[in-house]
Amino acid sequence: MTMQLPNNPARANVLAARPTLWTNPQYHENAINDASLPLTPDQVDQAQANWKRLAPLLETCFPELKTTAGAIRSDLIELNALRDALGYGGAEFGHVFVKADSALPVAGSIKARGGVYEVFVFAEDLAKREGLLGDGQDIRQLASDEAKVFFARYTIAVGSTGNLGLSVGIAARALGFKATVHMSSDAKVWKVERLRKLGVEVVQHEADYTTAVENARIVAESDPTIYFVDDEQSRQLFLGYSVAALELAEQLSTRGIMVDAEHPLFLYLPCGIGGAPGGVTYGAKKVFGDNVHCFFVEPVQSPCALVHMMSGSEELVSVYDVGLTNKTEADGMAVARMSAFVASVMRNMLAGIFTVEDDELFRWLLLAHQSQDIRLEPSAAAGFAGPQFVVKHPQGQALCEALNIVDRLPQAAHVVWTTGGSFVPQEQFDCFLKDAAVPHKT
Ligand SMILES: Cc1ncc(COP(=O)(O)O)c(C=O)c1O
Repeated sequence: MTMQLPNNPARANVLAARPTLWTNPQYHENAINDASLPLTPDQVDQAQANWKRLAPLLETCFPELKTTAGAIRSDLIELNALRDALGYGGAEFGHVFVKADSALPVAGSIKARGGVYEVFVFAEDLAKREGLLGDGQDIRQLASDEAKVFFARYTIAVGSTGNLGLSVGIAARALGFKATVHMSSDAKVWKVERLRKLGVEVVQHEADYTTAVENARIVAESDPTIYFVDDEQSRQLFLGYSVAALELAEQLSTRGIMVDAEHPLFLYLPCGIGGAPGGVTYGAKKVFGDNVHCFFVEPVQSPCALVHMMSGSEELVSVYDVGLTNKTEADGMAVARMSAFVASVMRNMLAGIFTVEDDELFRWLLLAHQSQDIRLEPSAAAGFAGPQFVVKHPQGQALCEALNIVDRLPQAAHVVWTTGGSFVPQEQFDCFLKDAAVPHKT
């Protein structure tokens, strides 16, 4: 049954699965300090403190983190050759950066920030509760053989389109937990194989992501030894992601890039269920206040955050409800229904959402590879449309006028968050490059 979307300049394009920009009519200043939100900004600082406390353990479990003393960080890359190739050479586009979570250590995607965080926080809590870790004891004790035997009594479960499963599975196995990942039908074979090699049980569902999560939740509810990482509701995942904004602030400041009323900042964040882009948006609003404007990006056939937030409905609206298919090559974003929790937090905080076609994802993936040697998977390339939408699209221009920042655009910074790709096996990556030459109408 088709549900009616309200009258809006983006509506016809959304329903016809054409790329478009929706700007949020409920976007307003200082939304992060709304006392009715289910989170408070100081929780981002607590999450950062948790990451710091866990760092020695992370460094012990993952030798690739030696160079960063246990921090899971990504580079901020200023675009040069790629900038021209994308058509962003003009001064009106200010600075254009990539925040390369595509190369995040441990899990090769932005999901390392959420999934690894939630598993390690759970492990520490459990160990404290059960007397395995005393107050003030060295956290690296949780990487001992004794701890592994203890953790092996528990299972970590998660539903995933692929990358969250990878990050949770890798983190769980590193500590000795059993792990079960419920994969949606969109999950790529190489992600399933990689998890099985790590000893993770992978349950493959014929159905979409929402169903995979539901199944995982039902199994977990009946067994107290299963800890369920709930992508639709988890505060821990969300806060794990949010700390990325503190990292970005430090990197921008090191490069002398100011963010203030004269120098706006725009973030473009690929969105599936909304947890990762929502968490980063929340952190960014805490750090940069009203000088940052965050946009989600979704495939034209899977714009779950767009249709729900545009609908204004209290009940979740899915892409099927408006006649879209949820079919896309961007597996990480193949989600038909967004998280209700994220929707409630983003209501007044998100500047807008734009949509992209699969063909464009492959084209950007190829350009990023050719011009700046950045390895992406299709979902991770989606943000490259951002500067064009904000600076040139009528709705983007209307938003900049309303915010009174049109004359400040040449001194703005645009950050395209590339969210995954470095773990893609070479053979699969070669296929992506070949696919860039073939149209993929969805
Ligand atoms: C590469 C990539 N980008 C973006 C996302 C979107 O994250 P979320 O589902 O938390 O919105 C995912 C989700 O798996 C992903 O794998």
